[in-house]
Amino acid sequence: MTEPDRPLDVLILAAGQGTRMKSALPKVLHPVAGRPMVAWAVRAAQELGARQVVVVTGHGAPQVEAALSGSGVRFARQQRQLGTGHAFLVGAQALPSTGDADILVLYGDTPLLRTETLRELIAEHRAQGSALTVLTGELPDATGYGRILRDADGNVERIVEEKAATPEEKAVREFNSGVYVMDARAPELARRITNSNPAGEYYLTDLLELYRGEGAKVRAFRLTDPDEVTGANDRAGLAAAEAILRRRINAAHMRAGVTLQDPDTTRIEDTVTLGRDVTLEPGVILRGQTRVADGVTVGAYSVVTDSVLEAGAVVKPHSVLEGARVGAGSDVGPFARLRPGTVLGEGVHIGNFVETKNAQLAAGVKAGHLAYLGDVTVGQETNIGAGTIVANFDGVEKHQSSVGAGVFIGSNSTLIAPRVIGNAAFVAAGSTVHEDVPEGALAIARGKQRTVEGWSRRYWGGLREKVGQKLPWLARWLARQGER
Ligand code: UD1
Ligand code: CA
Repeated sequence: MTEPDRPLDVLILAAGQGTRMKSALPKVLHPVAGRPMVAWAVRAAQELGARQVVVVTGHGAPQVEAALSGSGVRFARQQRQLGTGHAFLVGAQALPSTGDADILVLYGDTPLLRTETLRELIAEHRAQGSALTVLTGELPDATGYGRILRDADGNVERIVEEKAATPEEKAVREFNSGVYVMDARAPELARRITNSNPAGEYYLTDLLELYRGEGAKVRAFRLTDPDEVTGANDRAGLAAAEAILRRRINAAHMRAGVTLQDPDTTRIEDTVTLGRDVTLEPGVILRGQTRVADGVTVGAYSVVTDSVLEAGAVVKPHSVLEGARVGAGSDVGPFARLRPGTVLGEGVHIGNFVETKNAQLAAGVKAGHLAYLGDVTVGQETNIGAGTIVANFDGVEKHQSSVGAGVFIGSNSTLIAPRVIGNAAFVAAGSTVHEDVPEGALAIARGKQRTVEGWSRRYWGGLREKVGQKLPWLARWLARQGER
């Protein structure tokens, strides 16, 4: 009998081309909910506590291996794709040769397969003392899949591939998912698989008969939801998988205390973490390594990538954040753009049409309107007036500037980098600052104002006829000027 806590080795078959994707990218690298498809299989294997995970690569092997590097898996290259049976043998050679483990076979293109389902499959396999258990599903029409053939007592006999199936066999609704758990004899038995079938391929499915020939117990474990194993074979399948995963991810966040005002339009990649009492308005997209703390609100149609939003921060609608950190209680947007290297302290206010890049803004800084802050540090409580530009680029290189604490930068100022503005300094509105400003000083760098009395009457008076036709209010004003 079986021991329930035998080690588990996992083989992920991912060498196929996936021509229906019509893509330069290997099929298994197409992302679904923020992870390449094959990474979902790797994650499931790791969640199961696999001793060793081997990914069989072939088409696009260097790319696939690069995408999974650092995830602790091993790779086995299948130079030519001679069939699933051959892929299995190639992969099995990379497994520890102790011969004491169960082997789980997965595909690299079934991102919807839940770890929980695999846990049940393995538990059933072990409880039944089976030699091989195949995961199956049922569809009204299983065209394209291998069909599960059972004997009169319901025991699994073999799997017949679509190409070799008779009309009666094609009518069978139970199909092979391609996922199996098997005992440690499998690699030895698989060496007996031949390619004598209509496709001339080595079929892993032949393993069932080989096991049965040894008098070993072969069983099927039927899925309740066949969606879990319908692989994403083309772009439509990819979109369908994405939608199902999005619903799953969103439901999990809602259970954990997140408000999604419109789950149908909210897209949260699987890599994102959310605290409690987070509110996501419609159309929000959260991507990559984004971390959202408790009580944060993200406004409608904002896109947040690889960013950290600390407790109580508010991102208003239509903002785009990438590689940014937003301090507790800060508010950003609407229509703000925070680019990589942006670090906002607590209670910072960033208003509409403000762009920041490599900008560290200390607590309480305000930049309410229409500004560009690039390669700059700003001290606490400083006010950045509307239209302020840090001119960080000289046409060849970027330069770093620093603005102190408690500074007041008047509207429509340009700070020509590299610039240092001391603490508590003032910059008058409309200044072009090309010299550093010491602590506590005022800089005014703009043309001196000249006021010319009566200028308008002379100017418009020269155009009196046209003004009369086009600008009636001004015509009356001119007329009154004449009366004086
Ligand atoms: C296979 C099964 C079929 C099952 C179906 C489920 C066989 C003979 N048939 O058929 O019963 O219903 O999966 O989707 O196993 N792969 C390699 N190297 C190869 C061939 C395939 O790594 O030489 C990988 C592919 O990348 C893919 C998986 O194995 O991830 C399945 O290959 P695929 O060609 O899609 O198998 P099917 O013919 O669909
Ligand atoms: Ca397939």
